[in-house]
Amino acid sequence: MRRKLFLETFGCQMNVLDSELVLGQLRAQGYESVDDRDAADVVIFNTCSVREHAEQKVWSRLGELRQRKAAEPGMVIGVIGCMAERDGTNIFQRFPHVDVLCGPGELDKLPTLVHNAVITNADRSTTKKSREVALMGAAVRRSSTLAAAEDTLELLDLSRSVSPGDDVTQSYVRITRGCNKFCTYCVVPYTRGPEVHRPPQNIIDEVRKMTEAGSKEVTLLGQTINHYAYRHGDGRTTTFADLLYQIHEAVPELPRLRFVTSFPRDFTDAALQAMRDCERICRFLHVPAQHGNDRVLKLMNRGYSAQQYIDFVGRARDYMPDISIASDFIVGFPTETDEEFQQTVDLVKLCRFKNSFIFKYSPRPGTVAIDRFADDVPEDVKRRRNNELLAVQQQVTLEENRKLVGRTLEVMVEGESKLVSRQAAYPASKVELGWEKRRVESMPMKTQLVGRTRGDQVVCFDGDLSLKGAVLDVEITDSRGMTLFASLADPVAAATA
Ligand code: 5AD
Ligand code: SF4
Repeated sequence: MRRKLFLETFGCQMNVLDSELVLGQLRAQGYESVDDRDAADVVIFNTCSVREHAEQKVWSRLGELRQRKAAEPGMVIGVIGCMAERDGTNIFQRFPHVDVLCGPGELDKLPTLVHNAVITNADRSTTKKSREVALMGAAVRRSSTLAAAEDTLELLDLSRSVSPGDDVTQSYVRITRGCNKFCTYCVVPYTRGPEVHRPPQNIIDEVRKMTEAGSKEVTLLGQTINHYAYRHGDGRTTTFADLLYQIHEAVPELPRLRFVTSFPRDFTDAALQAMRDCERICRFLHVPAQHGNDRVLKLMNRGYSAQQYIDFVGRARDYMPDISIASDFIVGFPTETDEEFQQTVDLVKLCRFKNSFIFKYSPRPGTVAIDRFADDVPEDVKRRRNNELLAVQQQVTLEENRKLVGRTLEVMVEGESKLVSRQAAYPASKVELGWEKRRVESMPMKTQLVGRTRGDQVVCFDGDLSLKGAVLDVEITDSRGMTLFASLADPVAAATA
């Protein structure tokens, strides 16, 4: 009998990729992946520790499973990813029904851990409870000088397989693992370990493999991706710029190449030049600024000033005037004053980000900030600053989106926009609440597609779902809320795309 596996993923794109890779491994071991948690023999949560809120969701999932595990002791529950690494075996104390813990740096061991737990739990002759653990712990197993080629975790990426039926239109390929920056608020250097750079040939081969399997867009992943520099045995170095050129040249059939996340300080002119020269590299950068005040940036250990960040944005726009830039910000960092917060607001207005992800500071156990600074900005002040910054960013987005109306832009069709499809068939003015809602849901839907521009802007337009994965031109006709609306620039060409 094939055992059924349910895997739920929280957090960043790196976790999404990790989940895809471990799912591939477990499927190869004979597990069948299912969407219904209650039908699964093995339930795994791939977790995030970046903010407390992300962890709380997993605590509540584990709480929900307590009763079922008592009734079905043969089932296996696993916690993998950053929470497993950060909290370690404390998780067993709080949730004794968890069987498997595996940190993000040890995921190559997961199939063995799950297998052992399944065997132990299935053995009814003993009440022995499985406890399968693989964590990096304090003794980090990989040093920053160790090349990925010698790293067993590399085997996980190398073993990537695509099964028929998998949707690989948009896929991720990792180029670095871990982070060496040690921003004072962040758990990532502790949970994912020191930065390791993958050999360029392995990356190129993986991008080619995904393209041959049907990927139309590959997003390269790394915590500080532009810091990539691979030192070969013979002393040569492949820089991030070299890597971009090499992938672009080696896989010409790939329509779109993009990358996240960049660190403001490590961006060389050569990398900007590579983006400008390579036509299939998207004109999009995600470069978190985190704050607009130098004192706070220093407390965060970010290693740059607000002016240096502004200079970087200017440099990027000198190379590519149409580049679109997204950022992350933390509000309510310890000791942040109203005036300092206003400098973050000013930065958003000045840099005109495409969008910003805004977070309220969340003290994380194990980080420098939690030991060094009291979390002294009250929750209501954090909330107010969060809302204010969000409103300013939305205004910038709105203004920038309006400038795009009337332009023809290339989009990659991601799929159907469900919400907009329904509204288009049945205008919002007629949508009513209560029992009427059922009527709306059963209304025939007109298909609205959602696509993304090279600058990462979301665009909705009428079209057939068969266009999913196509890269085509649309004419931007309207900008409503945060969304752009368009019509196909050349419906005939689109029909044959
Ligand atoms: N509190 C709030 N936000 C955080 N981030 C990382 N750590 C914390 C924290 N302790 C945010 C940063 C980062 C994004 C992924 O999450 O803005 O860029
Ligand atoms: Fe965390 Fe800073 Fe590394 Fe980003 S650069 S993962 S915020 S430590």
